[in-house]
Amino acid sequence: LNIIKVKDEQQFNETGAGIIASLLQSNPRAILGLATGSTPVGVYGKLIELYREGVVSFKQASSFNLDEYIGLDEQHPESYRRFMNEKLFNHIDILPENTHVPSGSSSDPEQAAAEYNRLLEQAGQIDLQLLGLGHNGHIGFNEPAEELTGPTHIVKLEERTRQANARYFPSIDEVPTHAITMGIGTILQAKQILLMAKGADKAEVVARALRGPITTQCPASLLQTHPNVVVVLDQAAGGLL
Ligand code: F6R
Repeated sequence: LNIIKVKDEQQFNETGAGIIASLLQSNPRAILGLATGSTPVGVYGKLIELYREGVVSFKQASSFNLDEYIGLDEQHPESYRRFMNEKLFNHIDILPENTHVPSGSSSDPEQAAAEYNRLLEQAGQIDLQLLGLGHNGHIGFNEPAEELTGPTHIVKLEERTRQANARYFPSIDEVPTHAITMGIGTILQAKQILLMAKGADKAEVVARALRGPITTQCPASLLQTHPNVVVVLDQAAGGLL
């Protein structure tokens, strides 16, 4: 694991965006695995700046997002498709047809998960997978469990995950109970993984994930088995390492 501790928010965003931008410069056709949540928002902001400055282009790139809530259509303010459009895709030159987010509004979620898997297999290996980290050690929505699933599948969200995400909804009752997520197998197949975490509330799980035992009870700990992981942490999130 290559751990980079940055000094502040600006350096956090610049470091994350810099890694993604240099990949695109050397491989303009890169397949990006992307995340939602609060962690990457500033990274996406910085990528938009780099695009506007002509430093980076997404014209030939494609993307696959980690996850989507089941029951929210694309227009729902909290759907991850809408999040991605608003925080990144609408502001860069990526072709909309090259961006992929699992469909949360399908009447048949199992089928939607299978379809997403098919698209991933057709695309080939993800070049760089960006990940945030849940307080319980989840990556994507792969929650701690006895067993983890390799390909894209449906998950029931933990209460803690729903509570953490309730801040974006009018009330906890409106937070979906299930999601479609890329599985741990697909995540670990990425050529490179960029794990990012910030804030003191992540310090404990960062330490568990990076230094603790490798266990399905902390899905992010499986990243210790991957040969090419870069971890970007702010001082607070790296405080217990
Ligand atoms: C988002 C995702 C989640 C988040 C994680 C951290 O697509 O897959 O695993 O990365 O819940 O969320 P934030 O960044 O909001 O702390």
